[in-house]
Amino acid sequence: MKKHLYINGQWKEAKEYAPLYSPYSGELLAEIAQADDHDVDEAIKAAKAAAKVMAKMPASQRALILEKAVAIMEARKEELAVILAQEAAKPLRTGRVEIARTIQTYKFAAEEAKRIHGETVPLDAAPGGEGRLAFTVRKPIGVVGAITPFNFPFNLVAHKVGPAIAAGNTVVLKPASQTPLSSLILADIFAEAGLPAGALNILPGKGAVVGEKLVTDSRIAAITFTGSPAVGIAMKNKAGLKRVTLELGSNSAVIIDHNVEITQTLIDRCVMGAFSFSGQVCISLQRVYIHQSKYEEFLEKFKAGTEKLVLGDPLKEETDMSSVISAKDHERMGAWVQEAVEAGAHVVTGGKPVSDNLFAPTILTNVGAHVAVSCQEVFGPIVVVTPFETMDEAIEAVNDSRFGLQAGIYTSDIHAAMRAAEELEVGGVMINDIPTFRVDNMPYGGVKDSGFGREGIKYAVEELTELKLIAIKL
Ligand code: SIN
Repeated sequence: MKKHLYINGQWKEAKEYAPLYSPYSGELLAEIAQADDHDVDEAIKAAKAAAKVMAKMPASQRALILEKAVAIMEARKEELAVILAQEAAKPLRTGRVEIARTIQTYKFAAEEAKRIHGETVPLDAAPGGEGRLAFTVRKPIGVVGAITPFNFPFNLVAHKVGPAIAAGNTVVLKPASQTPLSSLILADIFAEAGLPAGALNILPGKGAVVGEKLVTDSRIAAITFTGSPAVGIAMKNKAGLKRVTLELGSNSAVIIDHNVEITQTLIDRCVMGAFSFSGQVCISLQRVYIHQSKYEEFLEKFKAGTEKLVLGDPLKEETDMSSVISAKDHERMGAWVQEAVEAGAHVVTGGKPVSDNLFAPTILTNVGAHVAVSCQEVFGPIVVVTPFETMDEAIEAVNDSRFGLQAGIYTSDIHAAMRAAEELEVGGVMINDIPTFRVDNMPYGGVKDSGFGREGIKYAVEELTELKLIAIKL
């Protein structure tokens, strides 16, 4: 079935289509339109025209559109989870969680639309400023270019489209080429919810064509991107004075202190953090630093928990983990494990494919800090466990990374917890949890090569609005 481009409230045929295959079964799912330069230009024109309509739309109406979209998604939630299973190989149970979060994210956006406000500014604090009343307002920034990844094709789109609409902007969305169906379905949902034509345009296609034009076109006021550091950094360099939000992944770590009991709850959290959606999560648990007194016990229990995971068809209820997104990534997992083993790593479990398209959840030990599985973003089902002696050593090891998205620390020592909170070089520190914790209203984003700017609706609205000062001479 052919899936077209969505521009100015209409489906438009493209000159070129690319086949979309299921990463698990290899089945052909659809033929996907590939936008060219001319299509992107048309979409930006439509978004620019609609920006005037959206900027005048009252907050109550923007909220109502988002609320209606929420109701439609709620009614169609199982269908949406099936799309995730088909195109992303996200197991149904995991996909249902993403859909529930997506609905929550749009609900937060509907609420946020009603509380975008400025503040009064006491100009008389400066000599010469007396006799004036000054206040700020937040104005929509205009057309937002949203470029989204395959790993949360509904919820990470919601984190861009939701706040953009809440703030009265318009959007040109380029979904990941592996997961376009999750975005294209939004066209009908938002049209039914009453979003004006042109306010949301959806252009599947190549990054080098669509992404490039969005980043360089002067009519786009802001770029919001989630994806790889290499692409994000290149975008930032080309974006000129555009507002840019980058969420670029990580090799996230947890520290487990000597005073922590190795309970089943902790093990379940670590298994979930490392292997949920095959580790293809920017805050996936990739590095575990465990106090040497608990190392053997943790490893034994972590191995047992990991080996219970059910691998297979993402459309089956019992499946915990399925294929990684592409054959290339599947091969990369094997190559990275081999490189680690050649450098002295020990495979505790997994380490190899269990079939042509399923890679076993893998625990490695004795991995040097500068081996790829430790220092690069794996984005796959591989986790490295390393013992430590002192908290100094553990904090230093976590910080010995080009990334800094989120980190976790389990400890019953308040001083250790507060020290980690202070010293860990990341955007968010989770005390007594894994770094993979996220709910959708919290500020989310990183430091170092993990990017900059924050998502989490309220914070994204700040990124996607202009602060304007109004001063009245009385
Ligand atoms: C991400 O991969 O950046 C998103 C993680 C999440 O929303 O849980």
